[in-house]
Amino acid sequence: GAPVEVDISGINPGEMKVFEWRGKPVWIMKRTPEQMKGLEQTASEVADPESLKPYTMDLPDYCKNKANNRGHAGHESTLVLVGICPHLGCSPSSKFTPGAQPSLPDDWEGGFLCPCHGSTFDLAGRVFKNKPAPNNLDVPRHMYLSDTRILIG
Ligand code: FES
Repeated sequence: GAPVEVDISGINPGEMKVFEWRGKPVWIMKRTPEQMKGLEQTASEVADPESLKPYTMDLPDYCKNKANNRGHAGHESTLVLVGICPHLGCSPSSKFTPGAQPSLPDDWEGGFLCPCHGSTFDLAGRVFKNKPAPNNLDVPRHMYLSDTRILIG
């Protein structure tokens, strides 16, 4: 599939938008400073902090960088993920997702939750320990054309 260019200027901190690339949902989220801080606090609770397990997709190196929480250097707060659960392919939810599942607790800051078998992911798309999903959510290869435009693929 062809790369897709997206405009992220309309995404405010703490918000997420869904785009499409190769028929897959791609989530782009801008994380707040508090959310970035929260990631440091839960870093020891994720199963594969540096995304070193074998992945089906060839994950770009920048998404393995713990310090940037899977964002690009210089654009650390922006997270780009494929919104498909690596367990059996369901679509995880979050309270940031348009049409989020009403069953999510209001105060749940944990990140993303897969309704099928309960895998939970942090706000960098990393699966928490002892969950059925074998891997983190994929980060698609992407580059910044400017501060507001990203090329995915
Ligand atoms: Fe997501 Fe099973 S498909 S936990």
